Amino acid sequence: MAALAEALSRIGRATLPSRLEVEHPGLPAGPTDPPWLQTLLWLTRPTRLLRRYHARFGETFTMRVVGVPPFVMFASPEAVKEIFTGPPDELYAGEANVVLEPILGQHSVLLLDGPRHMRQRRLLLPPFHGARMRAYGETMRDVTLASIARWPRGAPFPVHEHTQAITMDVILRTVFGLDEGDADMAALRDALTRLLAGVANPFLLIPLVRADLGPRSPGGRLTRQLEAVDALVYAQIARRRRERTRAREDVLSMLLDARDEEGAPMSDVELRDELMTLLLAGHETTATSLAWTFYRLTRNPGALARAHAELDAAFPDGAPIDPDRVRELAWIDACARETLRLNPVVPAVARRLQSPMTIGGHRLPAGVVAVPNIYLVHRNPRVWPDPLRFEPSRFLGDKPSPYTFFPFGGGIRRCIGMAFALYEMQVVLATVLSRLTVRAVPDARVRLVRRAITFAPSDGMPLIVEDR
Ligand code: HEM
Repeated sequence: MAALAEALSRIGRATLPSRLEVEHPGLPAGPTDPPWLQTLLWLTRPTRLLRRYHARFGETFTMRVVGVPPFVMFASPEAVKEIFTGPPDELYAGEANVVLEPILGQHSVLLLDGPRHMRQRRLLLPPFHGARMRAYGETMRDVTLASIARWPRGAPFPVHEHTQAITMDVILRTVFGLDEGDADMAALRDALTRLLAGVANPFLLIPLVRADLGPRSPGGRLTRQLEAVDALVYAQIARRRRERTRAREDVLSMLLDARDEEGAPMSDVELRDELMTLLLAGHETTATSLAWTFYRLTRNPGALARAHAELDAAFPDGAPIDPDRVRELAWIDACARETLRLNPVVPAVARRLQSPMTIGGHRLPAGVVAVPNIYLVHRNPRVWPDPLRFEPSRFLGDKPSPYTFFPFGGGIRRCIGMAFALYEMQVVLATVLSRLTVRAVPDARVRLVRRAITFAPSDGMPLIVEDR
């Protein structure tokens, strides 16, 4: 498959310059390579493709991906502002996220629009309120300490699988209220890990590839993995309904108690879909962002040294990190944010137009998908001086505008887990760097690879650590 992709990519490179000139009638200019080729390159070489089209067409261009309406990509903060502040009932995110429905289910907050979206979003927000984060901090630190005790010393190992295990444990404990030693935790972790390894294959985004053609087909395997996870999630919901106590602090308990404006609770199917959404949206994204932060720190020794110095000043006795105090670590927070700028794990968000609309000076017809392109805005030299340089101090002074820096999307759809994710990154990084030194594996060439809808470092992000 890699050889085929490389060959097709070469064909794409050879044919692009001459074919790029032609415009789609009525839409901003864009490549006219056949949609199958754009799709293949979008799945296998996404950043190269984005950079090339951006260089060719500027800050707005139209792409065509098989099976979905045209994507109009926007790389300017002005257009992004128009989209994020535009009327939500004209700019549907749920419809644009439909590719996630087979896994997340039709009640997922990510897939809904209009009043149903607002209802679910309101039900989900309280457990993720900034002030509640402290309740999760100790779990985040202890899970990290247990994980790093098992990391090999002095030899290369793929750190991404370990950050995945950390964020998986954190989400199972904070969202489901499970504990290590609980048989349900091990079963759910195993089933979810298998499912996530399977859905990482970007070709499963294509409906035809997802079709269930028997247990050995990719689609068939996915169906069975999903059934296994569903059975466990429904069992957790049933168990919690039986054993419910109001004293519990996990997200599932809060969701069981949540009522909408009419006083109605969430049904089991709604709960299942939201739990899957939180598991999937919250685990892989945070794990991959952490892996990218190790990538950036190991390639920027000055930034890494400053992170160690900040930690030593804040926690001089070598005692375990106090999660209540990680907010004092402004430099480590800036390193995490600068990593999210250069390596946003979700490279773009999408809104489907319900009626014709003018965005960025372009009159767009109903039905097309307007895409605030996170990856391109975050690297736009008009917005970010010397954009490819890793420079955390960009985040030490004034906050950047939500239209120039938006790794968590924006408007009324902005990520519910933003405070949770930034806090978790902060606690995990502080805990790791307080105990270990980290360095790059000499000669290892880490590339960007697509895992389903996220952009991750290749080869599991190889790393070498030593005790401090
Ligand atoms: C670094 C980690 C994360 C990144 C980069 C990230 C990114 C995003 C992005 C780009 C969106 C779409 C926003 C839009 O369309 O404008 C989103 C939505 C969402 N995220 Fe996150 N996310 C992260 C962590 C989390 C966590 C930890 C959770 C919860 C446990 C979470 C839950 C959600 C939910 C529920 C939505 C849907 C919001 C809605 O449609 O109203 N995310 N996230």
